[in-house]
Amino acid sequence: MKTFNKPKEMQAYRKTITKSVGFVPTMGALHEGHISLIKQSVEENETTIVSIFVNPTQFLEGEDLESYPSKIEADLKICELAGVDAVFLPTAKTMYESDELRITAPKIKGFILEGAKRPGHFDGVLQVVLKLFNITSPTKAYFGKKDAQQLFMIENMVKHLFLPIMIVPCEIVREGDGLALSSRNVYLSAKEREIALFLSKSLKYATKQIIEGERDTAKIKAMMEEVLSATELEYVEIVDREFNLLKEVEIGDSILLVAARVGTTRLIDNMWV
Ligand code: PAF
Repeated sequence: MKTFNKPKEMQAYRKTITKSVGFVPTMGALHEGHISLIKQSVEENETTIVSIFVNPTQFLEGEDLESYPSKIEADLKICELAGVDAVFLPTAKTMYESDELRITAPKIKGFILEGAKRPGHFDGVLQVVLKLFNITSPTKAYFGKKDAQQLFMIENMVKHLFLPIMIVPCEIVREGDGLALSSRNVYLSAKEREIALFLSKSLKYATKQIIEGERDTAKIKAMMEEVLSATELEYVEIVDREFNLLKEVEIGDSILLVAARVGTTRLIDNMWV
């Protein structure tokens, strides 16, 4: 497995590959969720490239940029065992100049839900993902459905900028008890982890209500809010796959979303119905 730190070296390697390239962008602290993305890429492509870069521009003032979990040695081992061909490990210095053009997320859908709670977050995500796409020129790029709005933003960027890349949405990976895997789960104490389970419980409960015939999103959201009362709830919302807020659940075209704080940890989860 090769490793590259400099964008130009990564690009030079990419130029030597003539067949399909699968790309999995990450911020490291790899877990089973990332591994499932990597495995899918390895299965579907001749070559798989993983990037590990804690991108400063997507963190807001006061967020966990400085303390974001990092375990590079373990991450590289995981990549090697999963059959990754190359890992790109840039630094902020090689990725950014002090005065450069900026990508901004769409003014409406980039500033609701996650975008409202973390204004500017998606600008940073799109900025770095576009750079990473230009450096790795992937045939396919793999993103988890757990960051549903991020996935939607990236699909839109590919569409709006006519990028010749196929975005592959990948299923959420959960612990046996339902907790969605996230690099930030390591921040949770045992007690907080119990409370964090209310996120997936609320989604499960809402799905059950929907299966039993409930369609009114106001009622479903109220039920979810009750289940989530032990958390510091940021939002519960039900949107269609284009991130329009829904009054009625549309089976096959809806996403139930939740964001909440447990202690100092901010968690998100969702269910596609
Ligand atoms: O989902 C993430 O880990 C990050 O937002 C991404 C896509 C790697 C961009 O930094």
